[in-house]
Amino acid sequence: METKKDIIILGIESSCDDTSSAVIKNGYLLSNIIANQNVHKAYGGVVPELASRAHQQNIIPVVDQAIRQANISPDDITAIAFTRGPGLLGSLLVGTSFAKGFSLAKGIPMIEINHLQGHVLAHFIQEHNEPYDPPRFPFLCLLVSGGNSQIILVRDYLDMEVIGQTIDDAAGEAFDKCAKVMGLPYPGGPMIDKLAKEGDPEAFKFAKPRIPDFDYSFSGLKTSFLYFLRDQLKENENFIEERKADLCASLQKTIIDILLNKLIKAAKETGISEITVAGGVSANSGLRNALIEAAKKRHWKMHIPKFAFTTDNAAMIAITGYYKYQRGEFIGMDAVPFARMDIQV
Ligand code: KG4
Repeated sequence: METKKDIIILGIESSCDDTSSAVIKNGYLLSNIIANQNVHKAYGGVVPELASRAHQQNIIPVVDQAIRQANISPDDITAIAFTRGPGLLGSLLVGTSFAKGFSLAKGIPMIEINHLQGHVLAHFIQEHNEPYDPPRFPFLCLLVSGGNSQIILVRDYLDMEVIGQTIDDAAGEAFDKCAKVMGLPYPGGPMIDKLAKEGDPEAFKFAKPRIPDFDYSFSGLKTSFLYFLRDQLKENENFIEERKADLCASLQKTIIDILLNKLIKAAKETGISEITVAGGVSANSGLRNALIEAAKKRHWKMHIPKFAFTTDNAAMIAITGYYKYQRGEFIGMDAVPFARMDIQV
């Protein structure tokens, strides 16, 4: 039984290649449905036009399932929160248009969500019968995904500042592009993670960038990996097959070292020891272990999200919507999505 005081947020996420919808009631997650798009596998990466078409097919069934699983009626929903950006414009348009239609039909407010803020606030999703130990402000968040590698200083729920970011490729792109060179299917990150478990992380050494401040760079690593393979394949055409696990373990270790070096520097220089990680790459088991080790050594309070909340999902959009709702931050029907968006927007 829903009461008038309940705040029930329907979240919509469609920024890249996952169509997702979630329901959050008074901060507690009731449902989180995600439809992945397998259509991109054949192309070795996300094809924007195919992504938006798949969102168009998936969005209604996904929302319907989220509402049913939450065991609520569409009339119980207080507000609809949708990802406005950053992301693929054609994909974002599907979620934005759906949100407008739903908001108009039900006469409820609409809340725009910055996808990156959503990743950070995934740490505040509460679930019934699950422990809840959210980070305390201020904290640092290492946001690592297919499109971003950032260190974010989080002062409050909606007060965030990017203090470091990649100047070229994202960490996820480094995983995916290097995986492609080895002939692994897209997305390569999870596959490298799996193969790395059987390999020697010290087998090969790859170039690490020298970038000032808290910024990252991954394009040099990708090139160094490519040239290394090209040279080795000249000597032995079966090199990749024979050393795949060692290659994955060494590459993964290099990416983790690069990520951790800057995070450690940021923690030292800001004096903040409450540390979180977010985004698709935070599903990486090697990164998780390295963060836990670093936390032990440096007396950090480390917060690692559940796997389900690391990759793109609408639960993180709905929880961000919940906080914005309480601040009365709504948006009108003239809202348009943005492919690029700063974390503070
Ligand atoms: O946050 P996310 O779901 O979405 C986008 O940024 O679009 O992140 C996707 C990225 C991909 O690059 C994928 O390869 C990477 O996260 N990823 C992983 C793992 N799981 C997903 N990278 C390394 N290890 C993993 N286990």
